[in-house]
Amino acid sequence: MSLTTSTPAGPARAGEGTRSAQPGPLLQVSGVTLEYATPSHVVRATHQVSFDVHAADRYVLLGPSGCGKSTLLKAIAGFIAPTEGEMRLDGQRIHQPGPDRVVVFQEFDQLAPWKTVLQNVTFALLASRRMGKAEATERALHYLDKVGLARFVNAYPHTLSGGMKQRVAIARALAMQPRILLMDEPFAALDALTRRKMQEELLQLWDEVRFTLVFITHSIEEAMVVGNRILLLSPHPGRVRAEINSHQFDLHGGGGAQFQRTARRIHQLLFDEQHPQPGDEAEQNNVFWLRPNADGYFNISV
Ligand SMILES: Nc1ncnc2c1ncn2[C@@H]1O[C@H](COP(=O)(O)OP(=O)(O)OP(=O)(O)O)[C@@H](O)[C@H]1O
Ligand SMILES: [Mg+2]
Repeated sequence: MSLTTSTPAGPARAGEGTRSAQPGPLLQVSGVTLEYATPSHVVRATHQVSFDVHAADRYVLLGPSGCGKSTLLKAIAGFIAPTEGEMRLDGQRIHQPGPDRVVVFQEFDQLAPWKTVLQNVTFALLASRRMGKAEATERALHYLDKVGLARFVNAYPHTLSGGMKQRVAIARALAMQPRILLMDEPFAALDALTRRKMQEELLQLWDEVRFTLVFITHSIEEAMVVGNRILLLSPHPGRVRAEINSHQFDLHGGGGAQFQRTARRIHQLLFDEQHPQPGDEAEQNNVFWLRPNADGYFNISV
């Protein structure tokens, strides 16, 4: 175990000191505070959130409803500017939306109902003016095949199930070949069995394509299955509570003792006021505690 103290300049970054052998992060979120101005007052959605996402990470933002997860995703997508801190993609400051970041939402109605499955995917490619129709069609068919919809390319969205519509949205996003795929609770509106299947398919797709994913959920189990790292956010306004390595868990580890123990720890961290102490059982669970001290934060890694 190692103990590292943060620099006086600011709070420790999640995972700092544990990934020094890695190349630089693809996405850097540094001290980001996000606020909404309403006519009567200002709503603070997140408070000084920092984390790094590396290429091919499956990075999960996990926290209770209202802690600012969707707001963080919108800021990464470039729709909202931070009131404090900054976000950088490949070292470039994010200040507007771009085709290098594509979002898949929870809602099933994110497809254009008057376009076929194929047209929904090619439309996004053609609108970005990066290729002609033939290439766009070829690429769309490739990704629709990857999500198992080769037989449905000429179907209209209203004839598809919720899971199939989400597969189209995922194919459309991947076809854009973004630097980061942003997913905001994409499976939350699906029944339990379909949700499980979609998680499995997403992991298989990741195995084949190795895209970089930022994935939002408020399901602890989904976070552990989908993510290789999980950022835990406190209730409103969202602050970083901890970052957890979860690469050792997969769809088949749900019943395992370590899976259950880590899930309990995450639950405790998210919902209990009494946090586990450094040096206790958490050390076996790859949990990095980020705790405030007089100077800022300190970071214990195992
Ligand atoms: N357009 C808005 N105007 C004012 N306040 C907003 C707006 N959108 C979100 N908020 C507030 O910002 C906070 C964070 O909202 P956000 O939607 O990011 O939470 P979340 O973590 O995604 O929640 P959930 O899990 O329910 O989706 C909440 O208090 C919410 O009420
Ligand atoms: Mg949300």
